[in-house]
Amino acid sequence: MKSIKVFAPASIANMGCGFDVMGMSMDATGDTLKIEIEDGVGLEINNQSGIELPDNIESNVITPAIMAFLAAYGEPKKVKVDILSKIRPGSGIGSSAASSVAAVFGLNELLGRPFSEDQLVEFAMEGEKLISGGVAHADNVAPSLIGGVVLIRGYQPLDIVKLPMPSKFHCTVVHPNIMVSTKMAREVMPKEIPVRHAVRQWGNVGGLVAGLALGDVELVGRSMVDIVAEPYRQGFIPGFEILRNKVTKIGALAMNISGSGPSVFAISEDSKIAEKIGTVMKEHFAFLHIDSNVYVARVGGAGARVIE
Ligand code: HSE
Repeated sequence: MKSIKVFAPASIANMGCGFDVMGMSMDATGDTLKIEIEDGVGLEINNQSGIELPDNIESNVITPAIMAFLAAYGEPKKVKVDILSKIRPGSGIGSSAASSVAAVFGLNELLGRPFSEDQLVEFAMEGEKLISGGVAHADNVAPSLIGGVVLIRGYQPLDIVKLPMPSKFHCTVVHPNIMVSTKMAREVMPKEIPVRHAVRQWGNVGGLVAGLALGDVELVGRSMVDIVAEPYRQGFIPGFEILRNKVTKIGALAMNISGSGPSVFAISEDSKIAEKIGTVMKEHFAFLHIDSNVYVARVGGAGARVIE
């Protein structure tokens, strides 16, 4: 029997304007899995994380990700996965992505790395498909796997670009204790958008990528404006606009919904400002009688890795 322990970080999808095409890793939290393989066929998943997950194996995102991996591998294996620690599902910081990435990354390591990063992203996307109502997006799985800030330039074929990152780029994330499923957050969005909205949005995506490449943090900040998803989703987050005003007043360059929410993130240039933003975010939700967890981290960092 072969065994490995792996970690995959949380991630912030969309980064404001880049719906389904931009994402960044966030090392402050993530999923830790122990994976074992032996001869035979089958998959066993044990949840030891203390976080509530679906009981049936078919509803766990790890299942379709591992199945896609093994179908491509072409040789039957018995895989046992122990979930040791887990980001709470429905948080908006890439909980499902961290699980499916850790699973396929760990399996790939155990089997001597038969697959490339792009192939692992494709397998992990099968988990995203399960929880988002049939759409496989890569803006959480790609940054969780490779780390840093990532652009998904195209899906068919998959074209993943790792972007440079200004070094003094800090991120504050608040995860209020409310549940918003990705499926629900996608269903509230219109199926089509007017061209004038698309023009504003792709101007901002271009500005975001240029700002990252040029190391221009202010350009990054003013490009993080989303008119495609955020107007329809912000109703899930109590006092969203009020909170945005509060954090921009104390130095946040931008504040947006993280992925499909309910987590919210703000970027800033200074670790002290990032800490202060965290306090304001925590107080905002406490005032509304909503518990929350706050994470303050430098943006990016490493992707999935072996820890034992
Ligand atoms: N891009 C996806 C969405 C991320 O916004 O629905 C989900 O975490």
